[in-house]
Amino acid sequence: MSDYNNNYSRRRFLTQSSLGFLALSGMPGLLNAMEGMQAMPKLPPRKASPNFKPDVEIDLLCKQERVPILVGQQTTVLQYSAKLLQGPKHTITDIPGSYLGPIIRLEKGQKVRVHLHNGLAEPTVTHWHGLHVPAEMDGHPLYTIDPGASLVYEFEVLNRASMAIYHPHPHENTAKQVYHGLAGALVVNDDEEAALGLPSGEYEIPIVIQDRLFDSQNQLIYARSMHDRMVGFYGDRILVNGRADFHIEVDSRAYRLRFMNGSTARIYKLAWDDGTPMTVIGVDGGLLESPETKPYVMLAPGERLDVWADFSGRDVGSQLVMRSLAFTGALPKMGMMMHTSSLPVGSDYPIFTARVARKVSDSPKLPSTLSKIQRYKTDETANPNQPVPIGISEGHMAMLLNGRPYAYNDVLPIERIPVNTVQLMEIFHAHGGGHGNQAPQQPASEHQGMGGMQHGGMRGGMGMGGMRHGGMGGGMGMMMTMAHPIHLHGQPFQIISRSIDADESSDYASVRDGFIVSGLKDTVLVMPGEKVRIIKPFQDFKGLFMYHCHNLEHEDMGMMRDFLVV
Ligand code: C2O
Ligand code: CU
Ligand code: CU
Repeated sequence: MSDYNNNYSRRRFLTQSSLGFLALSGMPGLLNAMEGMQAMPKLPPRKASPNFKPDVEIDLLCKQERVPILVGQQTTVLQYSAKLLQGPKHTITDIPGSYLGPIIRLEKGQKVRVHLHNGLAEPTVTHWHGLHVPAEMDGHPLYTIDPGASLVYEFEVLNRASMAIYHPHPHENTAKQVYHGLAGALVVNDDEEAALGLPSGEYEIPIVIQDRLFDSQNQLIYARSMHDRMVGFYGDRILVNGRADFHIEVDSRAYRLRFMNGSTARIYKLAWDDGTPMTVIGVDGGLLESPETKPYVMLAPGERLDVWADFSGRDVGSQLVMRSLAFTGALPKMGMMMHTSSLPVGSDYPIFTARVARKVSDSPKLPSTLSKIQRYKTDETANPNQPVPIGISEGHMAMLLNGRPYAYNDVLPIERIPVNTVQLMEIFHAHGGGHGNQAPQQPASEHQGMGGMQHGGMRGGMGMGGMRHGGMGGGMGMMMTMAHPIHLHGQPFQIISRSIDADESSDYASVRDGFIVSGLKDTVLVMPGEKVRIIKPFQDFKGLFMYHCHNLEHEDMGMMRDFLVV
């Protein structure tokens, strides 16, 4: 029925051939690290603690299902379903007919216990993207459970009102599980938000955007080639909330649209088709201090966006289309050429339609003040003159952060963060000299040969079994330069500056007005040639907190590291 399991063995094969390639390329340090990746220990599944008294208790099951997506045959997917064992009724809302998990609605201050049951044929673990929870509750791959096993999470909701994501995070297999359907929205409410009286109930609509590729049997197709894994996998159909050709019928009044980019790799440039500006009221980490209007908004995988959409004054029968507009620079030029999707990234296409179905006389007013954000100044950080580097580098067969692929227990000195500190951090493209002013420090052990990684990535070009097209010559690092949505687990961060290299500025002009820097973020899109400075607190919890590219193919290729909060 599904080719899910074929893909699984294919992936393992590709990993092994990458190792062979690295051995040949004479990079023993990198090879060791990649071998380390195989040796991910697995802890015994965590049980409920008798001292924890939950306000909300949920059974969360992942399993294979068949759902109707396209006309004709049903599609085999992987799906989250939930059962409320204890707590307010509105905690769980199913999205009828969708493969997406139910919306989980929590209150700030609630104590939550989740029993995750793995009904898949392979290991999994669930991560609460955006929530500030203890390291052992964060869904680190260390806590992956086998088929048939269960894992208990217990945490208190510390976040302010915001929309988080729950999705799998198993070692090197996140993208495929998310792609096949495992993802859902987790909404946190609090008093500050409630006092605003924002549109709610039927006037608050989740908009989860995903791209998928189907075969002639309506079954999902997933990444086949090394190229798909290097550049990201792109479908040719846009689904919203798990539906093709999604549309909403609205009253002539204000709505709150809560966007999430749940695609594995695709970046959107969201705008209304009639030129109505986007009124943004919040991002990943919750409400802005005051609304901002933008001609368009960039939304990369893992990012969320809270939009005020006012249909008042519009006639019954009128339509407004949310589109993704044209932009350039997100994909490597070479990748563009090789890109086989009939829906190219950066082309102009519709996402969904809103049709005014009913005239109403009343509509809430957009508040001019939304929230108060606690902000840090650079001189309040522990390291105002020495930002923690997050250097992005791209090579033929590996996607790296700070010069190294993901490996368990491979924490660099710069990746050790004292608990209860606030850190200045800088995300940049590490190749090509010029920018990337700080070379990442090495772990005490081995490792030369990383300098080569920083400049131009891995060389070579032959013998790449998985590549669709061989013969890409030297200078690969530059050619592979692309946009990366960098995500940090734990507390959200503030963006303090974005700066762009002069030679990238023409592509950048097509996206630059679509970034919101005023809100709290947990994922930031870093364009080629761009350098982003952020300030992030590391409070309350010690342990391993991942940071990675939320292009999930990149994450699984190794573009992920751990911060060890000590
Ligand atoms: Cu949404 Cu570590 O991921
Ligand atoms: Cu996350
Ligand atoms: Cu990436």
